[in-house]
This record gives sequence, structure tokens and C-alpha cells, in this order.
Amino acid sequence: MAKFADIYYKIDPWKIIEEGFDEERNMVSESIFSIGNEYMGVRGYFEEGSTCEKLLGSYFNGVYEYSTDVNRSGYKGIIDHTHFMVNSVDWLYTRILIDGERLDLKVSQYEKFSRILDLKAGTLSREFIWDTKSGKRVKVKFLRFLNMNKSQEGFQRITFEPINFSGNIEVIMALDFSIIHESKGKCFWNVIKKEASDKRAAIIGQTLTSNQKVFSGFTFKSDSIIGKSVYEDEKTIGYNLNISLKQGEISSVDKLVSNIVLKDSSMDNEELWNTGINSVREQEGKNIDYALEESKAYWNNIWNRFDIQIEGDEKNQQGIRFCIFQMTQTYSGQNPTNNIGAKGLTGEAYNGHAFWDTETCCFPFYLFNNLKAAKNLLEFRYSKLGEAKKRAKMLDCAGACYPIATLNGEEACDLWQHASLQFQPSTGVAYAIWHYVHLSDDKEFLFNHGAEMLVEISRFLKTRGAWGGLNNKFGIYAVMGPDEFHMMVNNNSYTNYMAKKTFDYTLEVLAEMEEKSLDLYNKLRKKIGFTEEELKDIKNCSDNMNILYNEKTKIFEQHEGYFELPHIDVNSIPVEEFPLYNNWSYDRIYRSDMIKQADVLMFLFLYNQEFSLESKRANYEYYEPRTIHESSLSPSIHSILASELQKHEEAFKFFGFATRMDLDNYNRNTKEGIHTTSLAGAWLNIVYGFGGMRSDGKVLKFNPSIPKAWNSYSFRVVYKSAVLSVKACKEELTIKVLNDKSVEIEVYDEKYSIDSEGITLRIPEGWRA
Ligand code: BGC
Repeated sequence: MAKFADIYYKIDPWKIIEEGFDEERNMVSESIFSIGNEYMGVRGYFEEGSTCEKLLGSYFNGVYEYSTDVNRSGYKGIIDHTHFMVNSVDWLYTRILIDGERLDLKVSQYEKFSRILDLKAGTLSREFIWDTKSGKRVKVKFLRFLNMNKSQEGFQRITFEPINFSGNIEVIMALDFSIIHESKGKCFWNVIKKEASDKRAAIIGQTLTSNQKVFSGFTFKSDSIIGKSVYEDEKTIGYNLNISLKQGEISSVDKLVSNIVLKDSSMDNEELWNTGINSVREQEGKNIDYALEESKAYWNNIWNRFDIQIEGDEKNQQGIRFCIFQMTQTYSGQNPTNNIGAKGLTGEAYNGHAFWDTETCCFPFYLFNNLKAAKNLLEFRYSKLGEAKKRAKMLDCAGACYPIATLNGEEACDLWQHASLQFQPSTGVAYAIWHYVHLSDDKEFLFNHGAEMLVEISRFLKTRGAWGGLNNKFGIYAVMGPDEFHMMVNNNSYTNYMAKKTFDYTLEVLAEMEEKSLDLYNKLRKKIGFTEEELKDIKNCSDNMNILYNEKTKIFEQHEGYFELPHIDVNSIPVEEFPLYNNWSYDRIYRSDMIKQADVLMFLFLYNQEFSLESKRANYEYYEPRTIHESSLSPSIHSILASELQKHEEAFKFFGFATRMDLDNYNRNTKEGIHTTSLAGAWLNIVYGFGGMRSDGKVLKFNPSIPKAWNSYSFRVVYKSAVLSVKACKEELTIKVLNDKSVEIEVYDEKYSIDSEGITLRIPEGWRA
């Protein structure tokens, strides 16, 4: 894999530290230093404004704009509009002036710059000494953080310590809706109301076409204000504060912000305004130090439950904590109207859209840490079932087809070949329903919402497929599987296998419902009108699904004709040609057996225990050398399978950049935002890879191995309410339950009942790297 680390941040177990400011890396740092709380996210940009290259990204989950700027071919099934996450109010807007000189780190003189993301406190801080043209020296410190529980709230503190003078400083604190969306070059907000009273400033912005609204308001606190006036522009409101500084003394000004998002029309402007103002009033009674303690308590609880410790590898220790931190910031299951964008709330790339990544890669992180979050992700899909049904109709099919990329449930991918040919989001939703219910036993969800989604997805797959071929089998034709380098292929093994599993699970759930909850069964039948005939058909499709498996070689053919494609030695591609999508003509990537990402290996991972070790080995050894891993989903999946095959060095090689994909900017595109799926992949890589956890059988299994370079590692998962702690040292493995539960698990193929006393085992030979 042609990927190289760009090591820039200081290694620390609990912090991401930038010492000295490198303007060239500013956009990367903005992504890395993002903070978020699922509801909102803000890049680590300089709030005081700067003329450096920057991306003023302040985002709210599910806030988007429409665009008709798509290839309007007029062909049925190809979308004629799309939507994208829009950057919203800059609630940190600040300007700082001394003697008329404005602070701008691109042009101002400064020294001793540092920026720190504190993973234990949930804060971003930045400081430096500013040398003004008039000869004044002042230490300036910025602190920002979000309320992780009351997610509308954000906080900013600016501290000044004059080194060689006493005098005044001008600080503008405002809320600004005049932000430009970087890639579209346009501001998407109209301001419908703004006001600054004695104690607070507030504003409501509305998007131009999606008509979503955001209220933003703040109050401020400082003992050093000696004067203030309203600061106002067409889309901006706030105050110009005159602050008196005394040499050697620290003065600060705090901004306590409330942002309220209205994604639908459930409130009129007045109600939204009043709700917002009340929320700012509440902030008036608060104090930032208290909010900071609350933030620390929140993160303390997270680390007590989720921390992964690695001894003997500081880089990966920092890396994995960064991943857990960013995953938790991106999504924690507060609200089923939110989802996980491929870049979280840290950048505009991928338009903020959620992909199949959510159900296949991110989902286990929540399943084993926060079941409510996992459930809410499924509730999000349930709430979008109507849109998925419309999409299936557009594709001349029945049932529900979940979009490849979306924020609001509609298909938003304007590349027709992905939008119309990739069905892994639909089978991914079915898989996640199964995985969630398998672990939680939440039949209420299953019978009330899950079953309906399953029937509709099965209907779609049945009508999207067809009977054909020499043996008259059921197959799905003209598709693109997870490997995006083969388009319009027939009988992609991933798609067909996942479809078969969807059919089987749908029938199993309906049978269980009929037996255990006839009322709900009849209700569902009445609502969506399935018949015995239809269920028989689904069974028939499953029984006759065309799965291209060669009994002799034990290899699944990725799709019909794949084995006959011209071979490319992927290792012979010069490093400068990566990423290929920028350097090769688009059609060239389709002309060989080169694979973008795990495809066959992906379903061998998802339904791991259905396949023999022999088959997993044969497929891994066949497909890995043909894969260029140009998707961040790919290396972790390969690492997990390599661990299982006891190819320990290879597993560690693929793990190499999982935890530090963004910290070391491996793909050279971190400036566009953080790779959320890679964060989740890193977690999977440790828990399912080195930890050898398997959650697709009746019992939770572990086959831990330990990388040679590590002295030990440990992780925690919540399984059937028991907090399981797994710690692998060089030769010894300890598993115990940290609360007062006990659970049955399997370790190295032996069954154990684990409680707080736990077990300690010697790691068997083959599992020692
Ligand atoms: C991958 C997809 C993935 C998307 C978003 C693409 O590069 O090929 O599988 O869903 O990125 O992460």
C-alpha cells in the first residue's frame, strides 16, 4: 500500500499537541482539532479570523441544502436533485484588536504557539504570545468545548495576560451567518431575525431552499469589560467589548452559546426565538468552570467504559484514543434524527452524507458500548423508510432501497453508477437489525420497526433480482458491489450473499412474530400487505440464490467473469499514481482484476463463522494481492482476517495506519475532514482483529493474539449488560467482568462462564505473534 505517515503532532497518551504553527498544515489541523457532540461540530479554525487557507466549518447534524446542480439526464432512476451538509453559523466569531491592529496569525507577529486537544477534558485550547506593532506583548489563550449532555450548548473562553503593558483591548464577540460554503462558493443562509440586548445577542438563520433554521444566541461574562457596543452586519450580530488589561494579571471573557436547530417546521419563528432566548437565559445563570467540570466528568465516564490501553506503542495508544474520542464526538445516540457522516461533522467532503459505512463499520462500536446509540441508528433508517420506498419505485422495483449516500433519507449521490447499482446500504441495514437484535434481544424494536424494514428490503431485492443463467438460478444483475472498481457486474458475490441472508432473516423474523406476537404480525401484514405467496417466493429466491462458490478452490468469484479479467500487479503501480481516481482515467480502473476494497472478504468478515478457515484463507490469499485499499474501510477488514489466519505480521502491517490515518494524514486528504469509518475500523481492528472477537455466533468468542511490538493491550466491551475487560500480555490473557454480572463466552474454542473473578489463560502458540 502506497501510504506514508506525515508525523507532525506530538505523541502523548491523552492529548493531541501541535507545537508551533505550520500554516501549510492548517487545514489538516482544523480537521484534527475538531470538536463535536453529535448535534453540532466545529473544526479547529482560528475563531479570531485569519487570512490563512482555512475552512470555517461549523456544522449541525442533518442540516443541509438542496442542489439541482446535478447531471440532469432525464433518465428515469437518475436523481435530478441532491443535498449536501451546509456549514452554519460561526458561533465562535471573534475579532481582537490592540491599538487598531487586528490579530491575524497569517500576518501578526507571535511566538510560543501551541494547540491542544485534550481527550480527557473534551477541550480544544490554543495559546501564543502576540507581539503587536506598537510593541505590546500579550499572551492570548483560547479555550472551546461543547456540552456533551445538553448538546445545544457551546463554550468559549479567551484569556489575556499582558506581559509589558497595561491598557485596553478590543474584543468582538459575535454570531455570523455570512459564512461561505467552500466547495460551492456561496452563502446558503438568510437571516430572519437578530437582536442584541443588554445581556445577550441572538440570531436566526434559515437555509435558502431546504428551509431549515438555526437559532444561535449567547451571553458573555467578564470582570474586565469597561465598555461595550453592538456589533452588527447584514448576517452578523454581537458586541464590541472594550476590555481593560493590567500588566501581569490575567483577564478573561467567556462566551456561553446556545444553538438550536429546527430541521422541520414544527415551530414557527417566534416559538423558535423564544425557545432559543430561554435557553440563553439559562446560560446566563451558568459558569464556564462548572461546565468544564461537567465535560471532564462526561469524558471520564467514557474512558472508564471504552478506553483501549496499549503498552509499548505510544503512537497507537494516542491514535486509538483519538479514534474513540472522535467517534464519540461524532455520534453518541442522542437523537434518532442524526446519523454518522463519512467525515462526521469535521468537513464538507462526501457532503456530510452517511453511507453503508454506518451499519457495517461503525455499528459494532456502539453495539458493544452504547446499545441505545445502535438502536437510534436503526430508528434513523426506520424513519426514512418512506424515502427508501420512493427510491425503489424510481428504480422500477418494489419495497425499499436505502440510498448509498444521504442526510435526509433521499438518495443524494449524483454518480448514477453508485446510486443505482450499489445495494450494500439496504443489505447493511438488514444486517445491522440482525446484529442488534442478536445482541440485545430487543424484540419490541424488531417486531414494531425491524420486521417492516426487513420485508421492504427483501421485496426490493427480490424485484431487483431475476431468474437466469444456465441453471436458472436467482441472481442480482447489473450491480456494483463494495469494490467500486467493477461496475454493472452480474451476481456480485457480496450482494447475492447478503441478499440471501436478508431473505432468510426476514422469513425467520416473520415466523417468530407469527408465533409469539400474532397481533403485531397481523398489524404488519395489514399495513404492508405481504402474502403467503410472496413469502414463498422469497424463500425460493433464497434457496436458489446464485452464489459463485468453487467447492474445489473454496474461493468465491467476486462476480461473473471476474476470474477471466486481465491481471494487474498492483505492486507495480508507481506511488505517484495514487490516489488512482485522480491519476487514472475513470474507465481505466474498470479494465482489470484490481480491487478497490474488501468485497468477498467483507462478507467473510460480517458472517465470519459461516465459513471454514480453509475458505477464509483461500479467499484472503487470492483477493488481498489484487486489492489496492483505496478506501479507508479496507485495511482494517484485511487486518482482522489476517489475524484470524494467524498471519500476525501482515495483520500488524494493515493495522499500521488504522489508528493514525488522520493524525499522520496517510491519505493526504485529512484537510477535507476526518475519515470516520477509519476511526471505527481502528476499533474493529483491535477488538475483532487482535482481540479475535466474533459476535456472529450464539456465543461471543475471543481468540486474542498480541502484536510483537506490544507489551500488552486491553479493551472493554459491554455484552449482555456485563462489562467485559480483555487484557492480553505477551503470553497471558485475562478476561473478567467489571460489574456484578456474569456471562458465557468462548475463548480459544473453550466455553467459560466469566464473572468478576475472571480467568487467566496462557496464550496458545499460534496466537503469539
Ligand atoms: C468507499 C465506499 C464508502 C465511501 C464512504 C468510498 O471510497 O468505496 O465503500 O462507502 O467511500 O466512506
